[in-house]
Amino acid sequence: MDILVTGGAGYIGSHAVIELHKAGFNPVIVDNFSNSKEEALRRVNELCSKEFTFYRTDVRDAVALSEVFAKHQFAAAIHFAGLKAVGESCEQPLNYYQNNVAGTMVLLELMAQHAVHNFIFSSSATVYGDPDSVPINEAAATRTTNPYGASKLMVEDISRDLCLAPNNAFKVCLLRYFNPIGAHHSGRIGEDPNGIPNNLLPYVSQVAVGKLKRLQVFGDDYDTVDGTGVRDYIHVVDLAKGHVRALQYILEKPADCYTFNLGTGNGYSVLEVVKAFEQASGKTVPYDIALRRAGDIAACFADASLAKAELNWQAEYSIERMVSDAWRWQSKNPNGYE
Ligand code: NAD
Ligand code: WQD
Repeated sequence: MDILVTGGAGYIGSHAVIELHKAGFNPVIVDNFSNSKEEALRRVNELCSKEFTFYRTDVRDAVALSEVFAKHQFAAAIHFAGLKAVGESCEQPLNYYQNNVAGTMVLLELMAQHAVHNFIFSSSATVYGDPDSVPINEAAATRTTNPYGASKLMVEDISRDLCLAPNNAFKVCLLRYFNPIGAHHSGRIGEDPNGIPNNLLPYVSQVAVGKLKRLQVFGDDYDTVDGTGVRDYIHVVDLAKGHVRALQYILEKPADCYTFNLGTGNGYSVLEVVKAFEQASGKTVPYDIALRRAGDIAACFADASLAKAELNWQAEYSIERMVSDAWRWQSKNPNGYE
C-alpha cells in the first residue's frame, strides 16, 4: 500500500518511514531538503535494506506534486513537510504561512482530485498555548501566540471544515505531538538542526559533545518541581509508531476528523533532563541559569489516554532511553549528516 510521506527526510519523517516499512506499508517520500539532507534518506534505505521511492519536490509546487500523484495510487498521505521554528516564524510569518498552510492546501486539493482521502497531519501541542491546566486533553481550549502555532491551528481548522462538508469522504487524523527527542537506536539517524539549536535536547547534546560550551537554562522560577520548565518528552520512535497506528485506525474508520495527543503523559523539568543526559552519556553538561525565554510556559504535558483507548498506542520508551539514544546519535555523528 503506497503511502505519501511529505517531509520524509526530516527528523520525525525519517523515523516514520522506517516504522511504516516495518508495518508493511510502502512509504513514498517527498521532500525539498529545505531542512534535511539526502544522507538521511540514504541511511533510512540502508537501515531498511530497501530503496524507497523519493521525489525532490516542494509541496507548494502543485504541478510537480500532481506528477507524483499521477505515478502512484496512494492509500493515504502523512504530512510532515513544514517549517517548525517558533522564533523564525515571528521573523518570517509569510514564509511560515506559505509553507505550512498554503503547502497543505496544495496537498489537500490534489488529494481531493485524486480521491486520496486519508490524511494524517503533524500538529503540535503548541496549539494549546499556555494551558489552563495540565495534563492537557484534546478538548482543552486552543490558542496560539506565534505564526508557527497559528499555522498549525489553521490547518486543523481547515481539516475540520473539510470533514464537515456535505458528502465528505476525508478521514483526517490530527496528531498533536508533545516534545519529540531521541533517535533511532542504531545511532544512524537523528535530529540534525541547522546552526545553533533552539530546542533543549539538541542543545544539551551539542554541549556534551563539545560543540557548544554551556547550556543556558531559561528560568528557574517557574511553579514546577525545581523551578525549571516541565515538558512531555517523547521518544521519536514511539512517535513514529503512533503514526502507523493512526494510519491503521483511519483506514478502518468512517469519514471524519479525529484528533489525538501523542505524548507520554509524564513531565520532566529541564534539570531532570540534564541529569538523565549526564548519566546516560557520562559527560558533564555545564549550565547557567538565565532569564526566562519569551513565550515559554511553565509546564506542558499530555493526557495521553485517548490515543491509548482509541489507537491502542502508548509511548513505551523511558526518559533514560530517550537521552541515551540521543547521545548515541550525537556522539557517533558530531556534525550530524555532514
Ligand atoms: P524537520 O524540519 O526535521 O522535517 C520537516 C521536513 O519537511 C524537512 O525534511 C524539510 O526539508 C521538509 N520540508 C519543509 N518544507 C517543505 C516543503 N515546502 N516541501 C517539501 N518538503 C518540505 O521537522 P520535524 O521535527 O521532523 O517535524 C515534522 C513535522 O512535525 C513538522 O510539520 C513540524 O511542524 C511538526 N512538529 C514537530 C515537532 C518537533 O518538536 N520536532 C513538534 C510538533 C510538531
Ligand atoms: C523545552 C524546555 C525551555 C532550550 C518547542 C516548540 C513547540 C514544539 C516543540 C513544534 C523549555 C528549556 C530550551 C535551551 C532551555 N515544536 N530550554 N534552554 O519550547 O517546549 O517547544 O518545540 O511544534 O511548538 O515551541 O521545546 O526544547 O525549546 O524547550 O532551558 O537552550 O527547555 O525553556 O522549558 P518547547 P524546547
